[in-house]
Amino acid sequence: MALIPTLAAIFIACTFMGSHNSVTAQLAFGFYSSTCPKAEQIVSSVVQQSVQANSRMAAILLRLHFHDCFVQGCDGSILIEGDKAEKHAFGHQGVQGFDVIETAKAQLESECRGVVSCADIVAMAARDAVALDLILPDDAEWRTGLSGSDGRRDGLTSTTSSADDMPEVTESIEQLKNKFIQKGLSVKDFVLLNAAHTIGTTACFFMTNRLYNFPDGTSDPTINPAFLPELEATCPKDGDVNVRLAADRESELKFDDSILRNIRNGFAVLESDAKLYTDAETISVVDSYVSPLNFLTGPNFGADFAESMVNMGMIDVKTGSQGQIRRVCSAFN
Ligand code: HEM
Repeated sequence: MALIPTLAAIFIACTFMGSHNSVTAQLAFGFYSSTCPKAEQIVSSVVQQSVQANSRMAAILLRLHFHDCFVQGCDGSILIEGDKAEKHAFGHQGVQGFDVIETAKAQLESECRGVVSCADIVAMAARDAVALDLILPDDAEWRTGLSGSDGRRDGLTSTTSSADDMPEVTESIEQLKNKFIQKGLSVKDFVLLNAAHTIGTTACFFMTNRLYNFPDGTSDPTINPAFLPELEATCPKDGDVNVRLAADRESELKFDDSILRNIRNGFAVLESDAKLYTDAETISVVDSYVSPLNFLTGPNFGADFAESMVNMGMIDVKTGSQGQIRRVCSAFN
C-alpha cells in the first residue's frame, strides 16, 4: 500500500495538534531549503545506503525515532553517549541506528556547519527508511515535516532515569494507551503507531512473559492455538533470548496493514500488540482498517499511519532558543 498522504491531510493534522497536551509546534516543510538545501538529500542517501547494507535498518531507524520522541520529546536525547546517558535505559533495550545518524550528521556538518539538528536527522531518517520500503512506489511521499520556524532543536539533558516511563510490552492496555495520550496523541495514533511493527523483528527476550509466565508456566490465551507451537519453537523456554522473530508474521518486509489483521486473528507477536485487540476503543480502530468492506468505505492505512508519524514527531519539540544544534550527535556542544 502506498504511503501518499496529501499535504492537505498533513496540514489538517498539524492544525489539530493544538488540541493535544504536549504537542507544541507547527510544521514547516522544507525548513532547511535555504540554510542547507542538500539536507534532505544527504539524509536520504545515507539511509538508502545503510538499508542496502543491512535490511534490518529501516525498522531500526523507525524505532529509534519513537524512542527519541517518547523521552523528553523528539530532541535527540537518546543519541548522547555516556554511562548514565538515556540510551542505556532498560526501556531502550535493543535500540540501534546511532551510527547511521552520526554518519548523516558528519556529512551535513561538512556541507553546512551547525545548521541541521540531530533530532531532525532522526525524524528524517525514520521517514526515509519507511519510504524506502520494498512495496512503496518510487513516488511515495511522506513528509514528516520539520517543526516550527526553527526546526527541532537538540536537547541539553540525557539521563538513564528519564526513560523510566517508556511503554513496556507487559503493561496493561490502559497503561499503554495512557502513555500515548499523555504525549498528546490519540487512541487512533496509538494503534496506528504500533502498526509500525509491520516491519522489523523482536528478540525472544520480549516473548518470555507472553509464552511462559502468563502467569507462571502458562501462555497468553489470546495467542491463536495454531500460532502457539510456532512461537514456542522459535523461542523455547530457557532458550537463547537473542533469537529474533518477525513482529508481523509472514509479512515483516512489507510495510502494510497485515499487522492489524494478525492482531485481530490472534497472530500478534508482541504482547503489547495483542492487547490492541482486548479493548473496545482500540479494537474499533483496528477493525476500521481490516474490515472486509474497508476498501470501499474504510480509512486508508498508509495515509493515516503517515499522519500519526507526523503527530509523534511533534511531541515536545524544542524550538527557538531552546536546546542547541549539536556538532556531533553523541555529545552536547
Ligand atoms: C506500546 C508501545 C510499544 C511497545 C511496548 C513496543 C515494544 C517493542 C519491542 C519489545 C520491540 C522489539 C525490540 C527488540 O527486540 O530489539 C519493538 C520493535 C520495534 N518497534 Fe516497537 N513498541 C511500541 C511502539 C512502537 C512505535 C510507536 C513504533 C514506531 C512508530 C515502534 C517501532 C518498532 C519497530 C520498527 C521495531 C522493530 C525494530 C527492529 O527490527 O530492530 N514501536 N517494539
